[in-house]
Amino acid sequence: MKEVKIKGVGSYVPSQVITNDDLSKIVDTNHQWILERTGICERRISEGEDTSSIAYKAAKVAMDKASIKGEEIDLIIVATITPDSFTPSVACILQKMIGAKNATAFDLNAACTGFIYSLEVAESLLKTGRYKNALVVGAETLSKIIDWKDRSTCVLFGDGGGAAVIGIDEEEKSGIINTYSISEGEKGDALTAGANDVINPFAKEEVIKSKYVQMNGREVFRFATGAMVDSIKKVLEGTGYNLEDIDYVVPHQANLRIIDYAAKKLGLSKEKFYVNLERVGNTSSASVPMALADMDNEGKLKDGDLIVLVGFGGGLTCGATLIKW
Ligand SMILES: CC(C)(COP(=O)(O)OP(=O)(O)OC[C@H]1O[C@@H](n2cnc3c(N)ncnc32)[C@H](O)[C@@H]1OP(=O)(O)O)[C@@H](O)C(=O)NCCC(=O)NCCS
Repeated sequence: MKEVKIKGVGSYVPSQVITNDDLSKIVDTNHQWILERTGICERRISEGEDTSSIAYKAAKVAMDKASIKGEEIDLIIVATITPDSFTPSVACILQKMIGAKNATAFDLNAACTGFIYSLEVAESLLKTGRYKNALVVGAETLSKIIDWKDRSTCVLFGDGGGAAVIGIDEEEKSGIINTYSISEGEKGDALTAGANDVINPFAKEEVIKSKYVQMNGREVFRFATGAMVDSIKKVLEGTGYNLEDIDYVVPHQANLRIIDYAAKKLGLSKEKFYVNLERVGNTSSASVPMALADMDNEGKLKDGDLIVLVGFGGGLTCGATLIKW
């Protein structure tokens, strides 16, 4: 069977750099605490740009790399938890921006696993034969749902976007080999963000919610370490590939300690895990495609390499994609 292949990747981050020292001026924190607990040194924060603009700039790079025009794209999926609006979706706004008038476009919310879930959906739809070229984007403006007075969360996140153009590989040489995904909705309260109050003239009671990121850090940490290890093992099952065959793991960039723990537990060298979180922080849905685009720019993605994308996050959700590049 012909495989679905990533034909081009791209990323974009806002130009404004916010360092740990900058944050120490607005909350009671310091560079050493943030670095030791997370590995993050700085992040990019929007100066007013919203998610669709970030998605567009990342998508343009991926489309140029894949040498594809807007009208050739017939499926757009944007993974995001910070859309410009409830409707239209970021995907529909992006469709207009790139002139993809032949596309079906929708957003997908699986928090930090969003890009992996979106790849799985896009791959499945491409394999029906009804679509030829998909644009899969992860884009976030997390700065608009962060409580900038809460030091336990505001130091962790950043804004940015990553994108991939995917389509059927006619040469049948490379592509997505397997996907594993699972959700654990019963643990959803451990990480929540973004909500409207339930208030209307006919309501029996008013439900007031927090629109900001709220997280039980330790519970999420526990989930994340287990999820990374399990997802990597599960995505290899039945493929004929083993852990030692992996050339690169591209993990969700939440926390260096989570990545180091998973590497140790799996007996894999840390060098196999691509890390850019020190520069961008946790960008949720954008994190994995941004890392892929950085690897591409650094010449680290070589034909024939075995690559595992792995993510975990709000929902709670987790999953992994096994790719022969
Ligand atoms: C958030 C996280 C870094 C916190 O690290 P931790 O070692 O669990 O730290 P704790 O929350 O136990 O806090 C330890 C102390 O540091 C303090 N602290 C919290 N944030 C701080 C900050 N930014 N600067 C300084 N001190 C801080 C706490 O108030 C606490 O102080 P106390 O002992 O006096 O009460 C860690 O739990 C984590 O990485 N969790 C996973 C988060 C994640 O990746 N989420 C996204 C998933 S997609």
